[in-house]
Amino acid sequence: MRWFAVIALLVGCVPSAVKPEAAAPLAVHEVAWNPGHVDVGVVSAVAESGDLLVLFGDKGASVFVGGALVATDASVTTWRTAGTLPAPDGSGTWIVGVDGKGTLHRIRARTSLEPVSARFGLGATPIRALGAIGGLRHAFLLEGSVAICEGPQLTRFDGAFATMAAGGETLAELFDRGVRVGGKGGDRTYALEGARLLAVDPTGKTWVATDQALYGDEGDRLKLRYVGERIDALAPAADGAWLTDGTALVKVGAQGFSRGFRASARSRLAPAPNGDVWMLGEGAPLRLSLGADTWPSAVYQRVCAKCHAKNGFDLASEAAWKAKKALLRKRVIDDQDMPPAGTPMSPEDRAVVEAWTR
Ligand code: HEC
Repeated sequence: MRWFAVIALLVGCVPSAVKPEAAAPLAVHEVAWNPGHVDVGVVSAVAESGDLLVLFGDKGASVFVGGALVATDASVTTWRTAGTLPAPDGSGTWIVGVDGKGTLHRIRARTSLEPVSARFGLGATPIRALGAIGGLRHAFLLEGSVAICEGPQLTRFDGAFATMAAGGETLAELFDRGVRVGGKGGDRTYALEGARLLAVDPTGKTWVATDQALYGDEGDRLKLRYVGERIDALAPAADGAWLTDGTALVKVGAQGFSRGFRASARSRLAPAPNGDVWMLGEGAPLRLSLGADTWPSAVYQRVCAKCHAKNGFDLASEAAWKAKKALLRKRVIDDQDMPPAGTPMSPEDRAVVEAWTR
């Protein structure tokens, strides 16, 4: 464990306090955001504002209002990232996505995509990342520079940054040897070898991850907050950060962290405005919320409903699940003969039932 000792020396804190084995179990439940089971394809980015939710994937941009699909624009099918930005004309908030070529599109009238790079003064310059800093200010990561916009005003700063993140009046950029943070508490630069992932939470705190460690910005230093095996994805939480470590989902907060839930092939994380996290990648997008589930409603909807809604054995309510808790555990976890052969059930879904029937 030599690398462990090296990290301890670099940041001067006690690594035993953040050993994964010491984690509290993570209590999250799946939010049934798509009760109609609409196939939205492989989704690579998500953005939402108010009751409007847009998923950007290989079937185009799918627009949901209040849980129902209201429109799909399939004219663009590769996406880098998405987010919400203050409209340059001051007319509220736009949901935007950056396509595979770096062009910015907004969702117009809750129905269709409209290219808008030019409206932000970016012309044909490809965009690599974007972020809302706060108020009317937001930033775009371009090739060799960062553009900061405030209303119609655009200022460019040169620099070859690997990535960029913004939020809570803070803008952070990753360069090859560390991270630069600007915002509350002034500008600061930290050296961090191997820094790869970056997030800024809504309180303005910057989080930076290497392959195996997560650090939080304390204003004057980076503090080691988590050590794992393989950190693949990082996203801001309401007050902290979400990350995937191998197949585990980890929530790091003001006090320690908790770990659980199998991440499997969904290797991208995207934040939701209420602090939920989206897991994207292969398979249907998952939206997870902190806190225990009152009953596995999303699993029921996805796996069991097609038979149990009509088989006499009603499973469509929390009361039914509570009444049959032991039987559910026997059939789904111990014997694994339910659902019957021929109906696939993911390890994640089985883990949800396992946790609930404990
Ligand atoms: C393909 C249809 C089908 C699917 C999908 C299915 N079931 Fe069943 N289930 C049945 C049938 C038919 C029975 C009754 C025969 C039996 O007990 O094997 C049953 C029985 C059960 C029983 C025993 C009920 C009793 O009172 O003896 C449990 C518990 C159960 N299912 C749970 C589930 C759960 C939980 C899911 C979803 C994760 C699920 N089933 C998915 C068809 C299905």
